[in-house]
Amino acid sequence: MTQVDVLLGLQWGDEGKGKIVDVLSPQYDLIARFQGGPNAGHTLEFDGKKFVLNTIPSGIFNEKTMNLIGNGVVIDPIILKRELDNLKTAGHDPVAKGKLVIARKAHLILPTHQLLDAANEQKMGKNKIGSTLKGIGPTYMDKTGRNGLRVGDTTLPDFRERYDRLVEKHKEMLAHYDFQYDLTEKEAAFFEAIEFIKNIPHVDSEHYVNGFLKAGKKVLAEGAQGTLLDVDFGSYPFVTSSNTTTAGACTGLGIAPNKVGHVYGIFKAYCTRVGGGPFPTELDNEVGETLRKVGHEFGATTGRARRCGWIDLPALKYAIMLNGVTELIMMKADVLDGFDTIYACTHYEHNGETIDYMPYDIITVEPKPVLKAIEGWETDVTKITKNDEIPAKLSAYIAFLEKELEVPVKYLSVGPDRTQTLTLG
Ligand code: GDP
Ligand code: IMO
Ligand code: MG
Repeated sequence: MTQVDVLLGLQWGDEGKGKIVDVLSPQYDLIARFQGGPNAGHTLEFDGKKFVLNTIPSGIFNEKTMNLIGNGVVIDPIILKRELDNLKTAGHDPVAKGKLVIARKAHLILPTHQLLDAANEQKMGKNKIGSTLKGIGPTYMDKTGRNGLRVGDTTLPDFRERYDRLVEKHKEMLAHYDFQYDLTEKEAAFFEAIEFIKNIPHVDSEHYVNGFLKAGKKVLAEGAQGTLLDVDFGSYPFVTSSNTTTAGACTGLGIAPNKVGHVYGIFKAYCTRVGGGPFPTELDNEVGETLRKVGHEFGATTGRARRCGWIDLPALKYAIMLNGVTELIMMKADVLDGFDTIYACTHYEHNGETIDYMPYDIITVEPKPVLKAIEGWETDVTKITKNDEIPAKLSAYIAFLEKELEVPVKYLSVGPDRTQTLTLG
């Protein structure tokens, strides 16, 4: 019996999960997305081509690998259809090749969920979360509120009545928000997409994944968002609405905790955040602007500029603890190539004390980062292919992080392409 390896973000998302899942997928028989929805944008680059996946697991370009959209994911049929149409146009058709299955128990994002997301954010004004407006929060609310519609429901004879009942409720809520909308086009697209996704095999993800394990096959669970956006442990309420942590892989796929094997924690050599909420190491200045420019830090889903800052060790330690990370993956080291000095936040000053954890009142009193200066490597690392070409000062940075975080860095990414990846140690 094998175990499920988990790969997830340790920061506020966009760490480079898509790239690394694609790189690792030849080692696995199944890649399984376990939470989130099309709020995610996972970018893959190879052979001079670039793809952004929102719902589809990032193993889709590997010929041998099966891909599962797990029960913990919320699916917008319109977006899933568009993703698959785009892949087909680009010469990849995972449905025709039988490489994609979806969980019956995954919840559906309705057009009215998106409207509710927008209405809620509009009402919050300057206190808004900065949601991607994909309907994620309202869909998970209907899931936990036991009103939701699931993929498996689409084949029931009374699906349309169930849909109408839920939409009626949403319309009442929208009237309460005094929110203006026109549903006609979206609704037509929704039902067209529902017919389309009936062609993708529906499975019980719990049996499906455990079947792979029983057969001795290798499974990688792909997270979306990042640990600091977790609904329980992130900077609430500036979070997403799912558990982005390893525990989320258990509930989002139907695997027992003792079936979890390696946990790969992925982070950028610095840090970014998109949307509202606290960000202690944020650089709201020229340095932040340089990181944004060099790192092309603009959202893969919404195109929004990402906020940029230095690496935050208290936050990473917290994320490592919550997830049981066994190996680290450091991304975007190349973005720091031009800096003569980089900084790492080792502690916070908070309410007159020095602390090394994320405090509960982070929302109301933002901690001040205590920064350690580190010599930059000032070398172009994007063309490095061998470990002995890694500049000594970059190796020293990695060694410093390993000592602080007490977990080894297994992979180092030095550019967006598949090939720009080094295996360390
Ligand atoms: P994800 O949501 O975690 O999959 O990450 P995103 O795709 O949203 O954002 C990561 C961005 O960084 C994408 O544009 C990737 O192509 C890019 N990227 C990934 N790894 C590297 C790297 O090592 N160096 C550079 N410069 N870009 C990278
Ligand atoms: P990937 O998988 C970065 C952020 C939004 C917002 C908050 C809530 O690409 O790393 P939501 O749409 O979930 O209601 O938004 O979470 N957010 C992400 N930030 N990467 C993501 O996904 C994100 N998904 C949601 O910007 O602050
Ligand atoms: Mg992303």
